[in-house]
Amino acid sequence: MIKKAIILCGGTGSRMFPLTHSINKQLLPVYDKPMFYYPLSLMMLCGIKEYVFVINQGQELNFRKALGNPDDLGIRVEFVVQKNPKGLPDAFIITKELIKNQSIAMILGDNFFYGNMLSPIIKDSFKIKNGCNIYIYPSNKTSAYGVVEFDKKNKIKKIIEKPNKTNSNSIITGLYVFDKNVSNFAKKLKPSRRNELEIVDLINLYKRKNKLKVIKLGRGSAWMDVGNFFDLQSTSNFIENIEQRQSFKIGCIEEIALNNKWINK
Ligand code: DAU
Repeated sequence: MIKKAIILCGGTGSRMFPLTHSINKQLLPVYDKPMFYYPLSLMMLCGIKEYVFVINQGQELNFRKALGNPDDLGIRVEFVVQKNPKGLPDAFIITKELIKNQSIAMILGDNFFYGNMLSPIIKDSFKIKNGCNIYIYPSNKTSAYGVVEFDKKNKIKKIIEKPNKTNSNSIITGLYVFDKNVSNFAKKLKPSRRNELEIVDLINLYKRKNKLKVIKLGRGSAWMDVGNFFDLQSTSNFIENIEQRQSFKIGCIEEIALNNKWINK
């Protein structure tokens, strides 16, 4: 069972300049909370109590202020600075000592997941002993994301990053689970043409070893990458809409900690 998750909150945030010149994008508000509360809340719903936040240099105090005291949520948080945005798999290299030879989850700090059956499905998938899990979602914006192509027998054919052309609508969301080999495998990767280590290359390494599991998130759930102005705005509107109608909060980390009995009232 997965015990620890990396919340990936580095990167240049160039799609959101000038807002991100002085602040990490994952600290920007999405409706009524900082962006990173949403991926964190999903991991808390899945029972994860230990976190490694990968952040940019000079941002730790801001994250600590936005999060408050982790003891008040019943969680443990460590921060690791990524000096240069070398790509998603770099997170597994710089956190090797903290992963401590265990399977680990990683969720992108700008990803929003929502849906009734989502956390039970994901929690169940966290029982992994070895290999890699990815979580796919139907989207027509394939050129912006990692994509899984299937053959006629529904077997995985190809995993590609931001394809110009594809016959698939299955995009790879920003949630991953990898076994204890991940840091060593990540070290073997070579930078791509855009000079980054690519998460699809790491996933392909597991695929070649027949150790990749693809979990489909149904169309009844919602997934959004909040990493540009349009998606930030529309995700904020989505959250506002549901919160106003239901009078329940989405991504309320205190409520989740209380329901998990990690804190008392
Ligand atoms: O959102 C899902 C997509 O995320 C996947 O479908 C793609 O396969 C995956 O490559 C990624 O694509 P993006 O273009 O959205 O990645 P982006 O550069 O925006 O980085 C995603 C998050 O990771 C963002 O919160 C910033 C953070 N980051 C990124 C890099 C490159 C880091 O913390 N460090 C890094 O070095």
